Amino acid sequence: MTSRSSLTVVLAAGEGTRMRSSLPKVLHPVASRSLLAHVLAAAPDGERAALAVVVGPGHQAVADEALRVRPDALTFVQHERRGTAHAVLAARDAIAAGADDVLVAFGDTPLISRRTLERLRAPLAQGAAIAVLGFRAADPTGYGRLVVKDGELTAIREQADASAEERAIDLCNAGVMAFDGRHALAIIDRIGSANAKSEFYLTDAIAIAREAGLRAAVIETDEDEVRGINTKAQLAEAEEVMQRRLRDAALDAGVTMIAPETVFLAADTAFGRDVTVEPFVVFGPGVSVADGAVVHAFSHIAGAAIGPGASVGPYARLRPGTTLGAGSRIGNFVEVKAATIEAGAKANHLTYLGDSTVGAGANIGAGTITCNYDGFDKHRTEIGAGAFVGSNSSLVAPVRIGAGAYIGSGSVVTRDVPDDALAVERSTQTVREGWARRFRDLKRARKERKE
Ligand code: UD1
Ligand code: CA
Repeated sequence: MTSRSSLTVVLAAGEGTRMRSSLPKVLHPVASRSLLAHVLAAAPDGERAALAVVVGPGHQAVADEALRVRPDALTFVQHERRGTAHAVLAARDAIAAGADDVLVAFGDTPLISRRTLERLRAPLAQGAAIAVLGFRAADPTGYGRLVVKDGELTAIREQADASAEERAIDLCNAGVMAFDGRHALAIIDRIGSANAKSEFYLTDAIAIAREAGLRAAVIETDEDEVRGINTKAQLAEAEEVMQRRLRDAALDAGVTMIAPETVFLAADTAFGRDVTVEPFVVFGPGVSVADGAVVHAFSHIAGAAIGPGASVGPYARLRPGTTLGAGSRIGNFVEVKAATIEAGAKANHLTYLGDSTVGAGANIGAGTITCNYDGFDKHRTEIGAGAFVGSNSSLVAPVRIGAGAYIGSGSVVTRDVPDDALAVERSTQTVREGWARRFRDLKRARKERKE
């Protein structure tokens, strides 16, 4: 690890229209996390690591996302889109603060890893003025080409300005660069816009540094890590790469998955030991699964903490604010939202528990519904430890069921039930002896007469 201080400048001002979306490009999600947040997660952090994010005019939502992820981030607005060097200079004040290493990364390159950014800094510590992240492109079209002479990087040539010979180069600029902070502003300030696009190209920094007698280095990485996202198709490709990484990491951490390719994870999904995830499970953001828990097939889970040894699904839906205690069971076609299900409690079939607490060991019968919404407000349902809620009950919130209480099946419960009481709310059953037989005899006789 380097002891040098750093500033990472993330460029997120360029707004392509190819996503065909009203959402700014860098706010699109991969594995339930924005493209920008992925890049920020890779950036160096800690006391000696500053962060600057350059956003487009009117993109307060992008600045907000940066601050949500990294409250220490400085945000800058690039008022006109005039090229990558121009965008970096929007963060001039941050660069002038004088970090040892100034890194530039793009907000639309979510697969970049922290390790690679650290690797890119190494040449600076060894005297290079600039280090460029390069990769061998399967199809280099559109990328800046790295021109290497006698083992030295001499220039980066953009596609639009490249000769036929240069276009044949497959070593490309990933877009990530690291500058020695002592030279960064002096070099970038000298970049002009005399090129095919009349833009200020950050890539011209290499030739300028060389002219000043400074050295530039290349660090190579895999193409998968530096894919830029411009279209929904590329977004889906990045998702595929990210899912593969997350599944591999989960398997490495000891999660059992018999069909990992069918399980979709979020960037922050956290697993304990001896967890099993059956096929076709989708994890949204904010999920932790504790030791020994099992998530059965076809479950959808977001914003939930699943306790040790708990069992979820098949076909369960856990929504944000769910906490499942140790050994609790949420079975098929059960939806839970903003609810705490304490240790050993069970809701095994066809139930909705919203804005609720269910005490330890309580049993929630099939078809139980917490009626938590009156069309305007949400209300809470509290079910005590060891309570038994009979099947097909409607619990009309706000309502409290005491510890150890019984609710007769089919009840509509609108008033609190004391501890250890029985509440039944249903009309009296009537029984007419022989009625069914007489009914059938009558019907048959009528039918025979007609025939
Ligand atoms: C850039 C590089 C190219 C590299 C490629 C890798 C330059 C001149 N070219 O080309 O060598 O191979 O990335 O993907 O740097 N941006 C701004 N403000 C601007 C212009 C761009 O913030 O005025 C941001 C964009 O949001 C984007 C990034 O900079 O995140 C790259 O811009 P883009 O126009 O996509 O550059 P490329 O032409 O792809
Ligand atoms: Ca690009």
